[in-house]
Amino acid sequence: MAGRRRVRLAAAVVVFIVIVIIYTRQGQGEHYGGHLTDTLVGGGSVLREKPEVQQPAALPKSSVPVDARPTALAGDAGAQSTTAQDRVTSDEESRPEATSSSTPTSSFAAAPESTSAPVHQLPPITHDDELPYEYGEGRVEVSKISQSSAVHWTSFPENFPVSSTIQLPTGTPASIPSVQYTGTEHDFGHADEDRLAAVKAAAQHAWQGYREVAFGADEVKPISGGINNPFNGWGATLVDSLDTLWIMGLTSAFDEAVEAVADIDFTTSPRSDIPLFEVTIRYLGGLIAAYDLSGQQSQHRVLLDKAVELGEILYAAFDTPNRMPMTYYRWKPAFASQPHRAGSRVVMAELGSLSMEFTRLAMLTGEPKYYDAIARITDELEQFQNNTRLPGMWPTSLDASGCAKPAQMAGSPVGSGAGLRDSTYEYLPKEYLLLGGLVDQYRTMYEDSMEAVKEELLFKPMTIDERDVLISGELKISINYTDGELIKMFQSNGEHLTCFAGGMFALGGVIFDRPEDVEIGRKLTDGCIWAYNSTTTGIMPEGFTAAMCPGRWDEPCEWNQTEYWHLLDPYEATRTRMPTQSARAAAGRLSSPMYTPKAPLSHAEYVEKKIEDERLPPGMTKIGGRKYILRPEAIESVFYLYRITGDPYFRDMGWKMFTSIDQHTRALYGASAIDDVTKAAPEQIDSMESFWTAETLKYFYLLFDEPNRWSLDEWVLNTEAHFFRRPS
Ligand SMILES: *[C@@H]1O[C@H](CO)[C@@H](O)[C@H](O)[C@H]1NC(C)=O
Ligand SMILES: *[C@@H]1O[C@H](CO)[C@@H](O)[C@H](O)[C@H]1NC(C)=O
Ligand SMILES: *[C@@H]1O[C@H](CO)[C@@H](O)[C@H](O)[C@H]1NC(C)=O
Ligand SMILES: *[C@@H]1O[C@H](CO)[C@@H](O)[C@H](O)[C@H]1NC(C)=O
Repeated sequence: MAGRRRVRLAAAVVVFIVIVIIYTRQGQGEHYGGHLTDTLVGGGSVLREKPEVQQPAALPKSSVPVDARPTALAGDAGAQSTTAQDRVTSDEESRPEATSSSTPTSSFAAAPESTSAPVHQLPPITHDDELPYEYGEGRVEVSKISQSSAVHWTSFPENFPVSSTIQLPTGTPASIPSVQYTGTEHDFGHADEDRLAAVKAAAQHAWQGYREVAFGADEVKPISGGINNPFNGWGATLVDSLDTLWIMGLTSAFDEAVEAVADIDFTTSPRSDIPLFEVTIRYLGGLIAAYDLSGQQSQHRVLLDKAVELGEILYAAFDTPNRMPMTYYRWKPAFASQPHRAGSRVVMAELGSLSMEFTRLAMLTGEPKYYDAIARITDELEQFQNNTRLPGMWPTSLDASGCAKPAQMAGSPVGSGAGLRDSTYEYLPKEYLLLGGLVDQYRTMYEDSMEAVKEELLFKPMTIDERDVLISGELKISINYTDGELIKMFQSNGEHLTCFAGGMFALGGVIFDRPEDVEIGRKLTDGCIWAYNSTTTGIMPEGFTAAMCPGRWDEPCEWNQTEYWHLLDPYEATRTRMPTQSARAAAGRLSSPMYTPKAPLSHAEYVEKKIEDERLPPGMTKIGGRKYILRPEAIESVFYLYRITGDPYFRDMGWKMFTSIDQHTRALYGASAIDDVTKAAPEQIDSMESFWTAETLKYFYLLFDEPNRWSLDEWVLNTEAHFFRRPS
């Protein structure tokens, strides 16, 4: 899986994984476009994760002006959940380059609402399985990055230009409550110098490793000293880490990196597609943030120039009939010059997490088209926010093609888009801040989605010392085709990826004056702290299942050993009976007097053995993901809670997390992932994602740094921890 981010700390994990299963209501309407009212869409996923699958459908060439309000996003049929089969590594050379016309029969739903829009002939889309799909994956390893490709991206006249451009809001920024703690208690306002120095040393170590053996590659392999190039080979770690270097005062490293940025050629890549989301948050965000943070100086002008070079290419991915982007943009001219639609199954986070980078680029360049591009997505998401299976939240994947769903999909089994988390939700309050509070849409969308999260996703894990902590769990929603009712299945799972939710709740709670949300943010963060603190290594696993308290998340809850043991041995009754029966059957069959069945384990024996074998901390019933891959989400929330509450408890917890992680992951050329956080001595894995230096270490550093150096009242951070300047 294309791993983007986050992991690790003690406490509950908030998993907002709502699974969205979308289906189209059966009915006469074979084609509908421009509105979603006929479409029953799935729930939503709240977490950030990378995009995985999409299939743009090709169109015949035609030039159609697009109205200011593009076609709605239709809910995707859940029947296609992400399967291993879907997740073809996208080496496009092995695919047909042009997926044009040929598709038969169905409905095209991308007609602009404006009745004056010209009628255009586009091939209809029918069964999804007949489409010339293109699949995308965030990480795609490419080997020959040094070989310069003869093929370069070039700009073409747009096939579907907008008829009017949505402008950035103007006016005096709204008054927004200050984000950072303003009191003077607990020595807030000062750096914690010793801890700061330790974090900086870890960052210097990782940067040195990268610089020595992998400079210019996407990632260093921290044990072997090899390289990985999963993100087009443009130097993901280099660009992603720029603002970390600046913040840490590593100026000569920063200058050297900026010089290397000048040599990046975004117009070519050994990889044939560009994963829009990954490239936007890592590269575009990285360049913009470095430019902003370093003071927009003329000697660093190349940072902005490169952001524009990349922005132009990424903007071309929005040239579709409904202006929804192709999230895996095939940039080679032979393909890119042809008309295309957005994918019919797009991961929500890929669409919803582009706003800040494009908005800031529009602000810095004065070019409104970048803002227009993402404002259209926001408008679409707003329109169908209340029409999903979980009103308020969006499905994890959706149809952005503007094409109607084939009616027959309603009769097919509904799949589930399990397990994606997305940053769309987090971007709502942050985009609000970036726009100076002038676009209220982001506030209302955020508030509506958080109401759904509180209602459906939060749960309280049962902890042995009865902590008042929260986790965001996972909801799968499917449909009973017999009676048309929704079937909701809740799972009390925690994931490192969802640990960002604590910080998001606290931030949103402060700026929108929702005090309860700040408290929820604290408890969610404490849930992650609890999970970190529970394991042998002091590091939270990627994913686990927790025993859930019986009441609502806001009700008190006691540790119940009987219940916990029952969850660990749910089939006790049949388990202890069965051996006898099978022994009897075996005896009858074999008539072997030699066979003496082993007595089944008693409940206590079984439970104790399971806890020992699986190294389960109290309160966890299963650990589905045992790794730690240097993820930042937990420390991110600890950082926000510290800055917002001023409570030194968060610095102490962050320090404990840092020492645990550093101890187990330190490798020759940086830091490594580890295989199992429940082992006393985990195995190291030869991988260091760029978020280690770009995010995880940056948050650790900022936690201990003087809070007003980079105040949250002046800056807002994107999902990749890049700093964008807020208007004042
Ligand atoms: C969605 O529903 C919420 C709660 O009922 C409501 O406040 C909000 O205005 C609705 N949003 C839209 C876009 O209709
Ligand atoms: C679906 O609905 C029918 C009719 O109400 C009901 O008998 C059946 O148990 C439901 N199935 C599920 C899985 O809920
Ligand atoms: C961490 O775990 C220890 C026991 O293992 C406990 O005493 C301590 O209170 C826990 N701290 C937190 C913050 O959970
Ligand atoms: C503990 O859980 C068991 C079920 O596993 C239940 O019967 C019992 O009432 C619970 N005890 C308390 C104090 O809630």
